[in-house]
Amino acid sequence: MRLRDCHNFHDFRRLARRRLPRPIFDYIDGAADDEVTHRRNTASFERCDLVPNVLRGVEHIDMSVTVLGQKLAMPIYCSPTALQRLFHHTGERAVAAAAAKYGTMFGVSSLGTVSLEELRKAHDTPQVYQFYYHRDRGLNRAMMQRAKEAGVQVMMLTVDSITGGNRERDKRTGFSIPFRLTLAGMYQFGIKPAWGINYLTHERFKLPQLDQHVDMGSGALSISKYFTEMLDPSMNWDDVAEMVRLWNGQFCLKGVMSVADARRAVEIGCTGIVLSNHGGRQLDGSRAPFDQLAEIVDAVGDRIDVIMDGGIQRGTHVLKALSLGAKAVGVGRYYLYPLAAAGQAGVERALDLMRSELERGMKLMGCTAINQLSRENLRFR
Ligand code: LAC
Repeated sequence: MRLRDCHNFHDFRRLARRRLPRPIFDYIDGAADDEVTHRRNTASFERCDLVPNVLRGVEHIDMSVTVLGQKLAMPIYCSPTALQRLFHHTGERAVAAAAAKYGTMFGVSSLGTVSLEELRKAHDTPQVYQFYYHRDRGLNRAMMQRAKEAGVQVMMLTVDSITGGNRERDKRTGFSIPFRLTLAGMYQFGIKPAWGINYLTHERFKLPQLDQHVDMGSGALSISKYFTEMLDPSMNWDDVAEMVRLWNGQFCLKGVMSVADARRAVEIGCTGIVLSNHGGRQLDGSRAPFDQLAEIVDAVGDRIDVIMDGGIQRGTHVLKALSLGAKAVGVGRYYLYPLAAAGQAGVERALDLMRSELERGMKLMGCTAINQLSRENLRFR
């Protein structure tokens, strides 16, 4: 199977699975506990039907949106995700370049493997900086300052990771940085020597957003350990209000799910919220963002940009979310599998397929601009 044989999410996933050692594939593919929420994120779109209009003259389609003060050529963006260098040696560079080519926003993670400064300089398209709140307040301030100086347009604070999710696949394989593999995990690396050769013959793995603060030499940094030991479980609304004041620009909370929290986000001056359950990787059993979207849009949609991520595999999923009132939609695994499968060319192909699906979907729905999508286009089973 080659890149040109990939026509959708499932094909990219299959190719990524073939290329990656199992512990790395499982880190991307896996989720918390029984992975119920992860599955439901996509399934939630299936209880909603699109009701198209016809004969509307749809030769020119404008898919651009403005969200968090940024104009995007299409209503999806690449959500921040960690450790991309492990998935392909070009990592964030590939994803940022592909996002720029398609005129959309790229999220740089605190756990990114390329520096936010380098990525900011490389492309003019907007970038969000994904931020975790550390116990070390000095580190938090320093990271915000760095992002400001680098010219990052949007700050995105992740609020659903106050402790590590129970990712049992990672426990089984021993996935951590540096690798502390179980015997089974080692075997899985052994049977994918091409990945190992590629990994060792390219630039060393780094976490430039955190390198000065995380000791990579002694003791393994597992994602769960990072969340549990470095992040501040006492983080509260007052702390975040202070950050919003300090940042003094576009500030968005990622991982808000309740109406009460959405209202609170408005009160402390956030300009956006991302409804998200972290791809099902944190609290299993938590509601799918798409199921929760209408309630949140009704409560705060006129005062703050409501965005969602989770489970998006198709253009029609995006159209459903936008019809319900989301301003834009984030994707994660949707671009990570193609990154693992084929680097920048893979991500470009995935974004290209998504763009075509969106354009085709809009034509078939009888819409020429995103603001023509409304709840009139939807019926729930
Ligand atoms: C994860 C974090 C790092 O889900 O966002 O693995």
